[in-house]
Amino acid sequence: MANFDAIIIGGGPGGYVCAIHAAQLGLNVACVEGRETLGGTCLNVGCIPSKALLHATHSLHEVHENFEKMGLMGGAPVVDWAKMQAYKQDVVNGNTKGIEFLFKKNKVTWLKGWASIPAAGQVKVGDEVHTARAIVIATGSEPSSLPGVVVDEKVVVTSTGALALEAVPKSMVVIGAGVIGLEMGSVYARLGTAVTVVEYLDAITPGMDAEVAKAFKRILEKQGLKFVMGAAVQGVAVDGMAQVTYKSRKTEAETVLDADVVLVATGRRPFVAGLGLEALGVEMLPRGQIKTDHFATSVPGIYAIGDAIVGPMLAHKAEDDGMALAEILAGKSGHVTYALVPGVVYTSPEVATVGATEEQLKEAGRAYKVGKFPFMGNARAKAVFQAEGFVKLLADAATDRILGCHIIGPGAGDLIHEVCVAMEFGASAQDLALTSHAHPTYSEAVREAALACGLGAIHA
Ligand code: NAI
Repeated sequence: MANFDAIIIGGGPGGYVCAIHAAQLGLNVACVEGRETLGGTCLNVGCIPSKALLHATHSLHEVHENFEKMGLMGGAPVVDWAKMQAYKQDVVNGNTKGIEFLFKKNKVTWLKGWASIPAAGQVKVGDEVHTARAIVIATGSEPSSLPGVVVDEKVVVTSTGALALEAVPKSMVVIGAGVIGLEMGSVYARLGTAVTVVEYLDAITPGMDAEVAKAFKRILEKQGLKFVMGAAVQGVAVDGMAQVTYKSRKTEAETVLDADVVLVATGRRPFVAGLGLEALGVEMLPRGQIKTDHFATSVPGIYAIGDAIVGPMLAHKAEDDGMALAEILAGKSGHVTYALVPGVVYTSPEVATVGATEEQLKEAGRAYKVGKFPFMGNARAKAVFQAEGFVKLLADAATDRILGCHIIGPGAGDLIHEVCVAMEFGASAQDLALTSHAHPTYSEAVREAALACGLGAIHA
């Protein structure tokens, strides 16, 4: 048994960042993690392995589509799936080991095992009960399935199984056109799998700016993904292969699709089982999140962050929560600007978004202007066959203050951050337009979109 200033339960991006930052601020910190490795879903079975597979398969796509155009001749490489999986695992191992190193460097104690909270101020790991002034629940989320769909992680898989299939399937049905469905669908489509995405709504990526979502769908279709929209999946039967039954929302007609593998990507739910929250009287919200006020739960001394509380289920939002809470626990003020948490889809091209969508501004009755610039007018993008997509900047009609930005195109996930910083500083579109941007870079497209909010872009 040991006593700490803070015990953080969960070693994912929320938990490990909170632990490291609290230690940097001088607290005596422990982090409980039951997996063999640190890093949570993100590093082990989420963001990081998926980015490895996205990178490998995007490289393959480049060979097929563009190498010959650049005078790079020779046969296309053969996919060695086992080797690609080993590469993915190396990437994961390097990253998870990195967190272990950071814990040592910052003197964060890793308590290995699964935690429960027998009482406020106490955390039980195995047979040991440790004490702490503050307990932080950073236990993340787990995939949620649908009624009538039983996940076996072989034929019917979540993102976890989809990252580690035994072989590249001939056909795959993806249920849900959200971030996971489109990223993993892209990976397998590039490997030659016939991918059909079945989506309940009439647009992909719910909540995204509609113009961007429309362009995104068109680009994915060109890449070979098929979409069935407005279709509610009723169930999946498995008999060697899988049969996915869906019902059209318009006609109510039922259709059955056969597939080697079915990926269920219909969202995630907070993972808080086994902590003993009910017995402690920790208040929960109807959708399964822990109710918090500035990260404090209804029980004094117990805090929660990341996917376990309200807000977008994103690794970087969990990190932001973790940093802010560490500050609060150290007696300082911690703050997260939730309205400016960016979202990124790591397909090719990438899609990135921050702030309000055009639909949200319309609904709020806000007078706004749109500055748009296509990557076709960006020399760098054209030079590397990445000229699909555009930057769309939304600014207040009267004050020119930036209200949102939506990018589909090369490096969108990195480009978005200059807009995030600009928005944090309350910048106008003109502030971006007057800022020098190196030539030739993709970032010039952001500046051109800002110029388009004024007198007009130069290269369009
Ligand atoms: P999601 O919430 O993004 O999308 C789920 C989709 O499934 C929705 O479009 C929904 O309309 C559809 N759906 C629900 N029930 C259905 C049914 N019966 N039939 C057909 N379609 C149905 O969920 P997703 O993609 O599983 O991701 C989970 C979480 O993980 C999200 O919060 C996401 O933001 C996060 N994530 C983020 C990533 C990133 O930032 N790049 C990568 C992976 C996950």
